[in-house]
Amino acid sequence: MIIAPSLLAADFTRLSREVKRTGASGAEWLHLDIMDGHFVPNISFGPALVGALRPLTKLFFDVHLMCSQPEILLEPFAAAGADEMIVHVELGTQVDSLIWKIRKLGKKVGLAVNPPTAITEVQPYLDKIDLLLVMTVNPGFGGQEFIHETLPKIQQAEAWRRERKLPYRISVDGGINNQTAAECARAGADTFVAGTSLFDARSLKAAVAKMRKIVNASDPALADLAV
Ligand code: DX5
Ligand code: ZN
Repeated sequence: MIIAPSLLAADFTRLSREVKRTGASGAEWLHLDIMDGHFVPNISFGPALVGALRPLTKLFFDVHLMCSQPEILLEPFAAAGADEMIVHVELGTQVDSLIWKIRKLGKKVGLAVNPPTAITEVQPYLDKIDLLLVMTVNPGFGGQEFIHETLPKIQQAEAWRRERKLPYRISVDGGINNQTAAECARAGADTFVAGTSLFDARSLKAAVAKMRKIVNASDPALADLAV
């Protein structure tokens, strides 16, 4: 189980402190939301900021590209220190070449699917990716409410993974708190992106530990062992 705090919910006036705090929190990954004002109706930050944060931490940088033209950003983000780059399946015919380019840059490959998009859209790519990101809100903003209708998509992704013996992680992103993280873990998720619920907590470290405990307890694989 991996917990990935999302920098979007951190205090932007003290990013260096926030990144160091995340590194000391027990979380393994830092989720970095890149918004281009076109694929989503918001703008966040770019490769220069990611590169400036890179020397501050050993956290795995999970870069989520909510962008219409990610191909122009892959090299800059790779150079800035991304460990994984996630592109959206909604980009259609571009997806195959994007996956290939990320791989060629030596980075992990993620594929994201928005709530209104059918999960079957990701099926052709499942043997080519390291992570499937099931969006549990419509991307663009932090602090939105979890969309429960996305849970069957997680179950389907987990069923395909089991049937085809594939190694991809199943990540969830948007409206993740202790309650919704548990529901996602029961459905088969193993990677939990959370912004507001973790950064709003009085202690980030305690919040990460609590979420980890809850998702571990909800993991069907571990529950089987306990029987
Ligand atoms: C949504 C982003 C998320 C966002 C999640 O567009 O992709 O990563 O930071 O934020 P919360 O956890 O506040 O819903
Ligand atoms: Zn994200």
